Amino acid sequence: MSRGLILGIESSCDETAAAVVERGARTLSSVVASQIATHARYGGVVPELASREHLRAIVPVVRAALERAGATFDDLDAIAVTSGPGLAGALLVGITYAKALAFARRLPLVAVNHLEGHIHAVLLQERESSAGSEASGDEPALALVVSGGHTHLYSAQPAAGAWHYRLIGRTLDDAAGEAYDKVAKLLGLGYPGGPWIDSLARFGNPRAVPFTFAQIKTKVHLGGKAPRTKAARTAPIAALDRHFLFSFSGIKTAVLRYVELHGMRKEAAARVNRVLADFHPPKTREAALALCSQPTLDLIASFQYAVVGDLLKKSFAAAESLGAKRILVTGGVAANSELRARFTAETARRGMRIGFPAPALSTDNAAMVAAAAWPKFLAQEFAPAALSADPALALGL
Ligand code: KG4
Ligand code: ZN
Repeated sequence: MSRGLILGIESSCDETAAAVVERGARTLSSVVASQIATHARYGGVVPELASREHLRAIVPVVRAALERAGATFDDLDAIAVTSGPGLAGALLVGITYAKALAFARRLPLVAVNHLEGHIHAVLLQERESSAGSEASGDEPALALVVSGGHTHLYSAQPAAGAWHYRLIGRTLDDAAGEAYDKVAKLLGLGYPGGPWIDSLARFGNPRAVPFTFAQIKTKVHLGGKAPRTKAARTAPIAALDRHFLFSFSGIKTAVLRYVELHGMRKEAAARVNRVLADFHPPKTREAALALCSQPTLDLIASFQYAVVGDLLKKSFAAAESLGAKRILVTGGVAANSELRARFTAETARRGMRIGFPAPALSTDNAAMVAAAAWPKFLAQEFAPAALSADPALALGL
């Protein structure tokens, strides 16, 4: 009898990942080979290096995922792979490998949207923690996908075992994680910036620097042109409520200006050498802390307080407009401790419910891909033989 095992493969950015998940509900293995060490010295992902590293890692990572799951190719029911959005060359490594495997083993192939994968990381977590009992599984939700490449709000509606998404809001420029990475870089902290800022922010005064987010005026912002964004193709901005639009490029400039005005550049430059030579992310809180003056810690805390506050305000406004009683927060930035604490407190205050992925499933992984593939597998929604990478693949246009 079929065990309902799906091998998920993810290679959209800088993690090569494979996982085996049973019936979209139980993770038997989840292996992630991070390329952080490769990209850290450049302060961001270098696409050519990413593809090369995926090529190097994909076979051992898949093998390790099967081994840890105690499974062989013969036990699998399907292969699932991220087909977009992401870096074209990086996506192609996973897709080509998954197609070859599916063809050779005569297994169906399921294509998964990376953004839907992130949402399923929360659903998978809920199913695992409820261990078989009926969880809030199929209640409509507001989903915030917040990572290095995305800051998107979706209405997520379950229907007959599948999920339907509608885009409610998104960033007009940088993603929130991108702002974390850029601010960390200009402060001379390591890459990726999120974990550094997260661990240092608690030592600063979040009200020291009052960063604000201007009310977004869509017409002025866009001048009738398509928005400049690395994220997926999405609905026309005009169709979205401007209260649910984000813009994170301004705060990075504001932090830069603050650093220059307050003579904090030298300190940041001195940190770069220590950080690059030494470690990523902070090996110990004390070591990281010793690298920062109090004004820097205050700046870090204020930046995080402002970003989390903006995500919080718009997410809850969107949930309210949808009448959603449940919020799912996912993507790399969902690992952030202040974000988790403030979102959790706000949901409790409003009598709502919140779901986060387990921290290891917040950032890119393949368990979320295998989990998202399960309803598609049941519906026999298989990928065509001509499946290719779609770097701008949208979710819920
Ligand atoms: O989901 P992910 O692994 O990749 C994308 O799809 O982008 O997210 C990576 C992003 C990076 O920008 C990283 O700085 C951010 O997530 N991140 C965090 C934290 N951990 C990772 N941001 C804030 N706080 C964290 N603890
Ligand atoms: Zn991601």
